Amino acid sequence: MVQAPRWNTSPPKFPCPKFPCLIPAHSPAQSQNRRATRALIRYSSPVNEATPTIRNLALVGFMGTGKSTVGHHVADDLRFTFLDTDDLLEKRADKSIARIFAEDGEPVFRQLESDLVRDLETKTNCVIATGGGLIVNPANLASLKKHALVICLWASPEAIWQRTRHQSHRPLLNGPDPLQTIRTLLAAREPYYRQADVLVNTEYRGLREVTHQIIHHFHQSQGQPHTRH
Ligand code: S3P
Repeated sequence: MVQAPRWNTSPPKFPCPKFPCLIPAHSPAQSQNRRATRALIRYSSPVNEATPTIRNLALVGFMGTGKSTVGHHVADDLRFTFLDTDDLLEKRADKSIARIFAEDGEPVFRQLESDLVRDLETKTNCVIATGGGLIVNPANLASLKKHALVICLWASPEAIWQRTRHQSHRPLLNGPDPLQTIRTLLAAREPYYRQADVLVNTEYRGLREVTHQIIHHFHQSQGQPHTRH
């Protein structure tokens, strides 16, 4: 059994009311920012109790936090199959997510998401990148937790805006003020994202570091030492 503490590093030195470890970039505390953001990786549920049912890794989190990009790298390193709920859903529905939203409405999209999540319960050795709103339905998160270590990728609204501003395939961000939409939605969803097993801030880390952190947590959940490829 892995003896992981609740925090894998010391608790943050500069807690903020919204997210205990987040410090705005360019703040006077910036020199200590990296140290504080490292502490953002935390366990919200006891992954130290190695559970044989954890066969997959699920990446959750807001749009633009890097779930697909990171997921591909993690899957390659683990030699797992990469799955993306948005891609699977589009194949099933035989139309784009933008069209599902426009023609059928968001409730239909959410139902399709829930049906798909249930079908993923039989999967083994997969890295599953999920749509940003998927775990807002607690039943979907519960379903993922039956078989996967659930890792939430986090970034600030401003970073998300920078990453998504030149893309147009996300219906929820196609309104007149996407940055404000991101701020509002992210704040509303934060309590749900906090239910993940591990929370990883992607904002001050490169792809490689985020990938290794995730693989480390997955191995820890399996009670195995982390070997880098
Ligand atoms: C959504 C996120 C999108 C996609 C859909 C709705 C959301 O996925 O599922 O546009 O509600 O946050 P990504 O997070 O992969 O962009």
